[in-house]
Amino acid sequence: MQDCDLNSVKILLIDDEAHCTKLMEAFLRQAGFSQITTTNDSRQALNLYHQVKPNLVALDLRMPHLDGFEVMGQLRQVIPAEDYVPILIVTGELDAPTKHKALAEGADDFIYKPVDATEMVLRMKNQLQTQRLHNQLQMHNGHLEAQVLLRTKVVEQTQLDLLNRLVMASEYRYDAKGAHAWRVGRVAKLLAEIKGLPPDQVDMIKKTAPLHDIGKIGLREAIILKEGPYESADFDAMKAHTKLGSKILADSRSPLLMMAREIALTHHERWDGKGYHKMKDVQTPLTGRIVALADSFDVMTHPCSYKTALTIGQARMEIERHAGTQFDPELSALFLKLIDRDGETLLDDVKDTPFFG
Ligand SMILES: [Fe+2]
Repeated sequence: MQDCDLNSVKILLIDDEAHCTKLMEAFLRQAGFSQITTTNDSRQALNLYHQVKPNLVALDLRMPHLDGFEVMGQLRQVIPAEDYVPILIVTGELDAPTKHKALAEGADDFIYKPVDATEMVLRMKNQLQTQRLHNQLQMHNGHLEAQVLLRTKVVEQTQLDLLNRLVMASEYRYDAKGAHAWRVGRVAKLLAEIKGLPPDQVDMIKKTAPLHDIGKIGLREAIILKEGPYESADFDAMKAHTKLGSKILADSRSPLLMMAREIALTHHERWDGKGYHKMKDVQTPLTGRIVALADSFDVMTHPCSYKTALTIGQARMEIERHAGTQFDPELSALFLKLIDRDGETLLDDVKDTPFFG
């Protein structure tokens, strides 16, 4: 250990005999240590520890009021488990059981009386070297944790980025801004929140709901861009987008893509079992039931070539009317609360839509 390091080391000496602390302090100063605090009253040890925050404690075992074991117990309680603060027991003759007890209760080494200056300083330096390595390891671990965190964030951001571009690609032919998809994502998120889903699930729904129509990427332009309501053959073609979407998103182990797939397949199911794949009530996964409502609400409240938009009040009545037939009744009730709480803002375009400014 370099001398300049010794100047920064703080040592706390606790011994009821003043001549002992004086002698040890003198030895330490001679060796180059300069920040030394001493006490001859063991009752002061804990207070001094808090004041000084020493790097190392030297502690006598036999003292009046509080003996060394009691002081060590106090100190070990306040020293955080991840910190390495060596406690050296200063003692005369020590029988084996007492030595074992001291080691078991947190002593790191011993300094024997009469104190030999060289031996004491070397033992302290050894402990301080161990402490330095411990601190380096802690710093290194902290650095690694920060790196892992940063890289995880980059991976998550990349994943989100790719999902968003996938949404954009899937909607591009009929809604270049993907406005419908983002709005469905936001409303589905609000509905998942009011339903009381855990925050990570809410976040996943927000990210995956915009992909509900990804299967439309496989439909003919004539079907997608068709003006007016669908006739039977066209409607069958249109219905295929749920299976196509599910196929595109299949066989992934990513929880996000698994949820996206579930939503793509089931967002046109109905509570009464008369939807695309005839799934009834809770046979349809909750994510699908949530997006079914969010999607229908957005379609109702926005105009297209063959219909005008409903007002928020009219959409509210529609949801109320179809609760228990088209829509999950419990989710419908929650959606009505959402409309009453957030009103027209549910119709706003998503301001922070990626890529579109
Ligand atoms: Fe759809």
